[in-house]
Amino acid sequence: MSSEVKGCQCCCDAKENDRELFDRIGEIIEKYRDREGSLIQVLHMAQNIYGYLPLELQKYIAERMDKPLSEVSGVITFYSFFSTQPKGKHTIRVCLGTACYVRGGKKIVDKLIEILGVEIGDTTPDGIFTLEVMRCIGACGLAPAMMIDDVVYKQVNPNKLQQILNKYYR
Ligand code: FES
Repeated sequence: MSSEVKGCQCCCDAKENDRELFDRIGEIIEKYRDREGSLIQVLHMAQNIYGYLPLELQKYIAERMDKPLSEVSGVITFYSFFSTQPKGKHTIRVCLGTACYVRGGKKIVDKLIEILGVEIGDTTPDGIFTLEVMRCIGACGLAPAMMIDDVVYKQVNPNKLQQILNKYYR
């Protein structure tokens, strides 16, 4: 959690908000702790609530679940859908499965890197987009494909990417 800064209302609010979110996650842990394979479920729900899984939250989960921190961090590192960095408002996932790759998926990634000025896995400085890649989103017949949040874009033309992104700046 962020360190306390005296007289700074916004930091105090953030800290208070953090506490609330940790409490909510704590309640989930109480509910799931004794179930088989509960760590992944708890991590999913914690990420949904907090947005990502910073070290401070990993420590909290490890302590409350009575597990070593290395186990919690190990699971987070193993699965690509867990993130230890804050995500942007919108997540772009470009498919690099075989069909998309051979039909230009890599060109889409390269163009997005150029437009957004970030690498894969990073978030733009304005916090709007996080750029990720994935393997097959089930639209192989209309490759290359990508998703922005829950919306699937098919037969994506790299030259039309800016137009697509513009919709999300509003
Ligand atoms: S390989 Fe891209 S949608 Fe299947």
